[in-house]
Amino acid sequence: MNAPLLVAHTITAGYGRMDILHEVSLDVSAGEIVSIIGPNGAGKSTAFKAMIGLLRPRTGRVLFNGQDITGLRPDLVLRRGLAYVPQGRIVFPQMTVLENLEMGAYTVRDARRIADALEAVYALFPILSERRRQRAGTMSGGEQQMVAIARALMTRPTLILLDEPSLGLSPKFVTLIFDKLVEMKRAGYTLMVVEQNAARALAIADRGYVLELGRNRFEGSGAALLADPEVKRLYLGG
Ligand SMILES: Nc1ncnc2c1ncn2[C@@H]1O[C@H](COP(=O)(O)OP(=O)(O)OP(=O)(O)O)[C@@H](O)[C@H]1O
Ligand SMILES: [Mg+2]
Repeated sequence: MNAPLLVAHTITAGYGRMDILHEVSLDVSAGEIVSIIGPNGAGKSTAFKAMIGLLRPRTGRVLFNGQDITGLRPDLVLRRGLAYVPQGRIVFPQMTVLENLEMGAYTVRDARRIADALEAVYALFPILSERRRQRAGTMSGGEQQMVAIARALMTRPTLILLDEPSLGLSPKFVTLIFDKLVEMKRAGYTLMVVEQNAARALAIADRGYVLELGRNRFEGSGAALLADPEVKRLYLGG
């Protein structure tokens, strides 16, 4: 069994003096898709923020590749190979698709590496190659989400955390985004995904976690969680 690529161990974190996460533990091993589900306000986005350095855990540890990255600055976390796609498909609307992707490579100096990353990203998202000169703000919601994901891939991260990648998209684009996550896994990326669309997120996941009220509630293989009567009743609409 491989050592996990990322381990969040008993993280307590919050905003101001209020704790939102209470000793939350999550991990992901190389090559896995791990999905995190749970009700609104459960602390899913907060958990991601605490793992990538946007929020300093009050207690607990975050290890990436065996190294302690607890509280390390987000740009330094990114340089180590841990990328993050925030909730809300944020793109630079006035910039073209290509410029958005180049922004994603801001930590990379080597032009050859940037060219290689662009090629890999276009292979995964051919539509972005076709639309490279289009302003990102004029694209559909689903296309903008692809830009946001592709931009995060420009550093060739080993692990990518995606917060609600399908949120607010039309059914066609929801399916497309889930297909892309599976394609990314096949291409060698390791993924941790927070999703409202719990059933689909568990269906593509090797393992999953349910968070509730800032605590670990359930965990197991994607298939086991999908089949669990409690999980079904509480989180999968019966
Ligand atoms: N910047 C902030 N300042 C203060 N409180 C915050 C902040 N961000 C989030 N919270 C609070 O932390 C709690 C957890 O929020 P979080 O965004 O992590 O939940 P979530 O599980 O991602 O929910 P959702 O499914 O709605 O995205 C909520 O009660 C929220 O109001
Ligand atoms: Mg959230």
